[in-house]
Amino acid sequence: MRKPVMAGNWKMNKTRDEALQFIYAINQEVPPFEEVETVICASDVLLRDLVKRQGEDLKIGAQNMHFKEKGAFTGETSPRLLETTGVSYVLIGHSERREMFNETDESVNQKLLAAFEYDLTPILCVGESLQVREEGKTDLYVEAQIKKAFSNVSKEEALTVIVAYEPIWAIGTGKTATPMQAEETIAAIRTVLTSLYGKEIADQIRILYGGSVTPANVKELLQQKNIDGALVGGASLEASSFLSLVNAAKNK
Ligand code: PGA
Repeated sequence: MRKPVMAGNWKMNKTRDEALQFIYAINQEVPPFEEVETVICASDVLLRDLVKRQGEDLKIGAQNMHFKEKGAFTGETSPRLLETTGVSYVLIGHSERREMFNETDESVNQKLLAAFEYDLTPILCVGESLQVREEGKTDLYVEAQIKKAFSNVSKEEALTVIVAYEPIWAIGTGKTATPMQAEETIAAIRTVLTSLYGKEIADQIRILYGGSVTPANVKELLQQKNIDGALVGGASLEASSFLSLVNAAKNK
């Protein structure tokens, strides 16, 4: 019932040449958009070039944005500016932004609200640190992140959000959450969304897993009932490995 999503997060990697080479290699290979939403989130300086060359079944996203429309915010990109690039997705609240660039639950909420105004599909990232997991507080922690992110978000808007559960200890470490751990927390996220919006809405919101996803472990993760796709860093950098992830999502 929920359409799978496979999103690559290139982070601060790939030059323009490398990015275009990748796009040309996958454009004709990605499954129809009606079957899988395939998204590449790239650096702002590449967005316009990528959007111009994206195949009809591929979408391009940004990795962050400011929540204000314009103003004196040196070095920042507004949703309005993103809109002019033609991107249709934006990552919001990635843990690297939260940890290294002081993003808070409040700014994440403001960014989410701004995304709706500009018709950008937000991929909202949440996830706990190793310490939180070891203290047994994962569900409580992630539940609080979700509640704060969704504050003042209407039912109609909530339906457009893609949530990505990314345990911080699993990102870029090669240490994937087990399919059961991922499913448990993602089911807990769906329960919070049910408490906020009711079952009918919560059952339609896509929730992805992210954190050291590879072609070798993706199938088992996608077999879980509540996992609707993945947000992938490292394994999205090679066209062949990204395509195998996308095809796994197609066969979910
Ligand atoms: P990774 O990154 O797949 O390299 O662990 C995931 C992410 O940060 O979105």
